[in-house]
Amino acid sequence: MIQLIRGFKDILPGEIEIWQNIEKTARSLFENFGFKEIRLPILERTELFARSIGEDTDIVEKEMYTFPDRKGDLVTLRPEATASVVRSYIQHKMYAKDPVRKFYSIGPMFRRERPQKGRYRQFYQINAEVFGINSPFIDAQLIFLAVKLFHMLEVTDAQPHINSLGCSQCRSNFKKALSAFLLSVTEKLCDACLKRSKKNPLRALDCKNSSCREAMVNAPAITDYLCPECRQHFETVKSALEKLEIPFVIDKNLVRGLDYYTRTTFEIQTGLLGAQNAVAGGGRYDGLVKTLGGQDQPATGFAIGLDRLAEITGIRNKDFTKKPDIYIVALGEKSEPLAFEWNCNFGLEGIRPEMDLSNRSLKSRMKRANKLEAAYVLIVGDNELEEGAVILRNMTTQKQILIPIESLVERVIAEIKA
Ligand code: HAM
Repeated sequence: MIQLIRGFKDILPGEIEIWQNIEKTARSLFENFGFKEIRLPILERTELFARSIGEDTDIVEKEMYTFPDRKGDLVTLRPEATASVVRSYIQHKMYAKDPVRKFYSIGPMFRRERPQKGRYRQFYQINAEVFGINSPFIDAQLIFLAVKLFHMLEVTDAQPHINSLGCSQCRSNFKKALSAFLLSVTEKLCDACLKRSKKNPLRALDCKNSSCREAMVNAPAITDYLCPECRQHFETVKSALEKLEIPFVIDKNLVRGLDYYTRTTFEIQTGLLGAQNAVAGGGRYDGLVKTLGGQDQPATGFAIGLDRLAEITGIRNKDFTKKPDIYIVALGEKSEPLAFEWNCNFGLEGIRPEMDLSNRSLKSRMKRANKLEAAYVLIVGDNELEEGAVILRNMTTQKQILIPIESLVERVIAEIKA
C-alpha cells in the first residue's frame, strides 16, 4: 500500500470541522478589521525566499523543498507566505493606488523539518499582512487580533512574547556587542553558533541547544541598543497593549528565524504543545518591500500555525457532526426514482437528506438510519405510491404519520420545521 510521505498528513472528516470553524472565525475577524483575502501560488522562484527569509537561516539553508522544474529553473514550495504577499504587492503595483493594504490568507506551507508533535513538513498558516503603515499602533493591533482570535477559539494558554529588533542602525551596534559577548562564551556554544557568531550573530540568540540557551541568558539585550525612534516605537506598542489589557512578556532573545524583521517582533506561545511552543509569530519587516524591488514601504504581519491551533483549541470538545435530517428508504422499482427526486430536492432546500440506495431489507435500512442518527425516516413502497401517501417517522418520538405524495417535499419540510 502506498503511504503518506513522512511529515505530511491527511485532515479527515471529524477533524476538518475544527479547521473549518477556526478558518471561519479568523476570516470574519480579519474582515471586520478591513483585511482582504489574498490567494497566492504555492510554488515560487527559489530566489524570492532566499532574498527575503535570508540565505543563512535554517529555513533557506536546510528546510526548503527546492527543485529544478522541467526547464531547469529553481523553484520552491513556499515555506511561508510573507515573501509571496510582498512579491504580489510589488508585482501588481498595489502601492500606486493606495499603499495602505491589509491582507489575510490561509494555506499550506512546506518545510523539511524533523517531524514531531506540532511540527509537520506540510503545515498550514493563517497569515495577516499590513503594508504602508509606520505607526506602532498597527503592530499592537496585530498582536491584539492574534490574542483575541485565540480567545475566541477557547485557547486558554496563549501569551504574547514581544521584542524589538530595531532598525539597521540599532542592529549594527547591537551586533558588535553581541559578537563580543559570543567570543567570551565560545566554549559553551554549539558549532552552528560558533559559525553564526561571525556571519549572523543574532541567530545565536534563538539557538535551541541547551548549552547555548544557558549562555545566552547573559547576552546583551537589543532593547538597550535601540535608537530614540525605535525605542519610542516599542514603548508605544507596549503601552497600547497595556491599554487593550493584553498581558505580554518582554523576551530580549526573541529574534525569530527569518531575517527580514525590523523593530517589533512577537510570538504567541503556549505550554500546551511541548517543544513546539509557538502558535503564532510575526513582526515588522519595513525593509522587505524595497529589498524585493518595490517602493520603500513599511510592513508588518504575523502567521498563526493552524495545525498547532487546531490541536489546542477548546472547540475540539464540541460536536460538529452533521446528522441527516431525513433518511429516505424506497422499497420497490416505481418508488425509487421518485424518492431519488425528493432526495435531490430536499438537499437544495437546505434539508440534509441521506437516501439508502441499497437493496437491503427495511429492517437493515432502519438500523442504518438509527446508526446515522437521522431525525426522520421517509418510507415509500410501491403500495404507498398507489395509495398516494408515504410514511414519515419521527425517530425521536417514534411517531409515524402519512404524508400525501403531492407537494411531498414542501409538506415534509413543514412537518420537520414545525
Ligand atoms: P514562523 O514563525 O516561521 O513565521 O511561522 C509562524 C507559525 O507557523 C509558527 O509560530 C508555527 O505556529 C507555525 N509553524 C511553523 N513551522 C511549522 C511546522 N513545521 N509545523 C507546524 N507549524 C509550523 C512565519 O512564517 C512568518 N512568515 C510570519 C510573518 C508574517 N511575519 C510577518 N508576517
